[in-house]
Amino acid sequence: MPEAQTMSQRADELEHRQMQELGDRLVTKSLLFLLADGERSVTFGQGRLLMGEDPRLPPMPKEPKLLDFFKYRFAIGSQQHLLQSANLAQKNGLPEKLVLACLLHDIAVTGFIRSDHGYWGAQLLEPYVDEEVSWAIRYHQALRFYPDESVGYPYPDNYVRMFGADYKPDAYIQRDYAYARQHKWYMSARMICVNDLYSFDPNVVVHWDQFEDIIGRHFKQPKEGLGNDNTPSSHMWRTIIRPCNAL
Ligand SMILES: [Fe+2]
Ligand SMILES: [Fe+2]
Repeated sequence: MPEAQTMSQRADELEHRQMQELGDRLVTKSLLFLLADGERSVTFGQGRLLMGEDPRLPPMPKEPKLLDFFKYRFAIGSQQHLLQSANLAQKNGLPEKLVLACLLHDIAVTGFIRSDHGYWGAQLLEPYVDEEVSWAIRYHQALRFYPDESVGYPYPDNYVRMFGADYKPDAYIQRDYAYARQHKWYMSARMICVNDLYSFDPNVVVHWDQFEDIIGRHFKQPKEGLGNDNTPSSHMWRTIIRPCNAL
């Protein structure tokens, strides 16, 4: 069983590397991280568990702001998607509030959890943005699957490739689409879809500086720092800062 040996050797190496980097502390992974690999077993090692700063990740400022999360935590590769979507929204003359919605619409994909990303993203941001912004982010998830020719939004070609030609959205997506379709903010969520750039130009690089003013005006940055404040999503920001806290 050479392959099994290789896998177990690899696991040993990984464990050894983790132990070295973490001193005597053991990492306990949340079940969710294991489920992502098709695993259901949570093991508890003997020893001191990692709590507090994770030495494998870059340290964060004591009072972290929104952009610190993009700088020190969120996936680097997918940030251009957000920046270029917001850039397009700005070119299309959308109000600042909706430029912000485009800038943050996939924050959950970039920085937290992909599954149900519109809902997670909206919940994460809700205490800090105008209600219309988080509403639009929540419902862009459902609207993405439904064309609206009145604004030139077809069913995305790449969804056929990504999900198959016969893919049918789940019942809750169908329900939320029907709800959003008749809502007063329907067009705000739709504008996220219209400006949602999939095949963005790799030669154009958009920088965060371009949106610093808009973030300053439309994102209510808590003075204590995200995670240190006391809102319904503070714990989510803390989990992103320290994803492997044992409890
Ligand atoms: Fe999205
Ligand atoms: Fe997107």
